[in-house]
Amino acid sequence: MQFGTCVDSPKSKRVSNIQRPILSPVKPDAPALIRSYESKDLETCRALWAELTEWHRIIYEDPSIGGCDPGRLFDKHLDQVGPERLWVAEKDGTVVGLAGLILETGQAELEPVVVKEGLRGLGIGRVLAEVALEAARRSGVNSVIVRPTARNGLAIRFFHRLGFDVLGQIELVLDFRPRNRQKWKAGETIASSEFKV
Ligand SMILES: CC(C)(COP(=O)(O)OP(=O)(O)OC[C@H]1O[C@@H](n2cnc3c(N)ncnc32)[C@H](O)[C@@H]1OP(=O)(O)O)[C@@H](O)C(=O)NCCC(=O)NCCS
Repeated sequence: MQFGTCVDSPKSKRVSNIQRPILSPVKPDAPALIRSYESKDLETCRALWAELTEWHRIIYEDPSIGGCDPGRLFDKHLDQVGPERLWVAEKDGTVVGLAGLILETGQAELEPVVVKEGLRGLGIGRVLAEVALEAARRSGVNSVIVRPTARNGLAIRFFHRLGFDVLGQIELVLDFRPRNRQKWKAGETIASSEFKV
């Protein structure tokens, strides 16, 4: 997710000549069944996208993130990646998680990954992400990126546990607003320099 928005990278584009992966639950004892997105999942996935936005509103203390109908940004994502690049996690017959893959030439981006609040920390995000990552591997890309916002430490730790241990490009912000209108918090040290997040 890009900072402060739920909008996907303008760089990204669909790659159509990739075979559609056929995937089923990762393990018999998996915490949820992972299956491809189906049109009947639309409303639930909009709600999950809204939960993803809500999480960012909370961590950035900014209720304007995602606009007035954040769930609709899922539709934009669906148009961009196509249903074959989206997976849902189903638990007891209910969709409780969503993962997507944006395929570019040579590289993929795992976006989004979200698990329903109240069911996080049970391993559902991992199995969802692993299915998407396996699809990326099969498509032949060399790498997969994720772009969590800098303040989303929980997600960064989650991705690190999944194996994302290379720090790629970093986006730095020069905020022109007066200090009293800035809401940044003390954050990270990178290259021996202090950064707010
Ligand atoms: C990030 C998110 C998708 C993770 O899904 P989850 O189901 O809670 O994660 P899991 O239970 O599958 O955890 C997978 C691994 O990450 C680790 N992990 C998950 N949450 C963690 C946390 N808060 N702190 C440290 N590690 C964490 C787990 O320990 C686990 O490691 P292990 O499998 O090696 O034991 C989920 O918390 C979520 O929806 N968050 C809000 C939306 C969001 O921020 N999405 C990412 C946007 S870029």
